[in-house]
Amino acid sequence: MATQRGGFSSRLGFILAAAGSAVGLGNIWKFPFEVGEGGGAAFVVMYLAFCFILCFPVMVAEIAIGRKTQRNAVGAFTALGHKKWSIIGYLGLTSGVLILSFYNVVAAWAFGYFIEMVMGNFEIGQHFGDFTADFIKVGAYSVIFMVGTAFVVSRGISGGIEKAAKILMPTLFVMILALIVYALTLPNAMEGLKFYLIPEFSEITGTVVYSALGQAFFSLSLGMGALITYGSYVNKNDNIVSSAAQITLVDVGVAVLAGFMIFPFVFSQGIETNGGPGLIFVTLPGVFESLGDVLGVIVGSLFFLLLSFAAFTSTISLLEVPTAYMVDEKKVDRTKATWIVALIIFAVGIPSLLSAGAVEALTKFITLPGPGTLDFLSFVALIASDTFLPLGGFLIAVFTAYIWRKENFNEEISHGDEEIKGTWLQSYVDFAISYICPVLLGAIFIVTVLDNYFGVKILNMLLG
Ligand code: PFF
Repeated sequence: MATQRGGFSSRLGFILAAAGSAVGLGNIWKFPFEVGEGGGAAFVVMYLAFCFILCFPVMVAEIAIGRKTQRNAVGAFTALGHKKWSIIGYLGLTSGVLILSFYNVVAAWAFGYFIEMVMGNFEIGQHFGDFTADFIKVGAYSVIFMVGTAFVVSRGISGGIEKAAKILMPTLFVMILALIVYALTLPNAMEGLKFYLIPEFSEITGTVVYSALGQAFFSLSLGMGALITYGSYVNKNDNIVSSAAQITLVDVGVAVLAGFMIFPFVFSQGIETNGGPGLIFVTLPGVFESLGDVLGVIVGSLFFLLLSFAAFTSTISLLEVPTAYMVDEKKVDRTKATWIVALIIFAVGIPSLLSAGAVEALTKFITLPGPGTLDFLSFVALIASDTFLPLGGFLIAVFTAYIWRKENFNEEISHGDEEIKGTWLQSYVDFAISYICPVLLGAIFIVTVLDNYFGVKILNMLLG
């Protein structure tokens, strides 16, 4: 069975693919605008705490479940003898479908910006709204993106993804570093850094906590079985805990660096920080323009090309989750499964595509107590990434500690890694998965959902 499913060719291959899944629009597009809307550094502090304290143990659990069972997000629970708990997998499939449906639209923006930069159209930043409202154009780019994703996924896991990731991810990293250096030379850069680095804890509300937790899960690709699925292709001799640690560090590192790049730019151009999903798309073209015609075109197009690539390694992992389910559980041929799922997800994404200016009713879709008025795309993001993913994470922790049981979990993580036994990291994961994750994730989830959707301000009352 394992051989038919394919697998990663090496431990590095797995880390790259998983880091490729984690690093994406979440780090470079979503993180900065969430920080901007969440009041700056206080959001950053919470996000970091959530990533390391709560998400990292869940990541270890997901990979362990996947590797133990060699199955997809749904089948893994059945394979462990707990069919009822495969509800976690179905929740994950739903999250995956919803997330990819809007993610693909934002990826199309990034890809569209690459084309605009190639043509030297730096003005695009001021016409972001017109750009996203042009649903024919953005729709065409999103078709290209989805077809590309489906093409790679249909060919199986180890081929192109691993190889491309090896070159392109480090390039993106270097490019962000270079842009940070440039950003720091600009006027008002320090104001941007202050906003990003000096926390105002009075800014913290239930809505902010809720989105910081959702962002941590989203950014690390957790809570929907993507890492159960990728974990299922991992070699029995690889070591899970240190792989998870590396993936977490890389992902958090890229997000934090993206903030160092964006906020000096935002403040130097006098742009509002709470601009929402348009933040990088409004800010960056002006930055590239300031580099001059030739350099601006080169740096601008390369940047959006690499951003599109980072998004691509994430869309691949998103599509892989339902595809692996169809292949394992429904015995559908991989190629066929991929194209069917891609088509469905594309269709689900059409309202999101139309919700960025094209159709009024979708652009002002709903008003909620926490976030206020949202377009359809942001609403789907809210439900799937800020609600379903933390809920999935909570259930995975409870399942791992109390249903699958810790002895089995610990045995799986020390397989291929005898040295991990008795280390502080292993003790922490063990303790966190049984107590910290279930209790804190459960409590934060309930409190922030009440706040966000129903306007019940428990947290604000607690904080005084
Ligand atoms: N982690 C990706 C990002 O930050 O862009 C998004 C994502 C990919 C979320 C895969 C969930 C997932 F399963």
